[in-house]
Amino acid sequence: MTSIHILNGPNLNLLGLREPEIYGVQTLADVDKACTDLGAELGLTTVFRQSNHEGELVDWVQQARGEAFGIIINPAAFTHTSVALLDALKAYDGKVLEVHISNIHQRESFRHHSFISGRADGILAGLGTQGYLLALRRMAELSTNSS
Ligand code: DQA
Repeated sequence: MTSIHILNGPNLNLLGLREPEIYGVQTLADVDKACTDLGAELGLTTVFRQSNHEGELVDWVQQARGEAFGIIINPAAFTHTSVALLDALKAYDGKVLEVHISNIHQRESFRHHSFISGRADGILAGLGTQGYLLALRRMAELSTNSS
């Protein structure tokens, strides 16, 4: 089975409680379950993780080398700060899709720049938690057609 690692950055453990007017009412456990269910339908195994710690996310990106066909990552606030995460993703040779629940370009100017986008094969922003599922569908497409 094709494995997809879905990585989530800081404060996303509070999804559903945190600024619901921006991020919605679904919890991260709901998103995990929806990804597992859709993954099973699409023939993908999903590994779903969240950390508030930059180094742990770097470790997980490194771990995906040779293990995962692709990484779907919502780096949360590290999007806008982390060269370390960018470098880890540059050392990963699978597909990378960057997901943001909110439209970062419609928000404060400090959210407009993403260090991660320079490495991402695609970016989904402002589609709510559905962005994760659409990214998963794209991974399924890429894993069968590679384009
Ligand atoms: C986010 C957007 C980031 O700017 C923010 O720091 C987050 C979540 C999103 O999913 O919309 O924590 O990545």
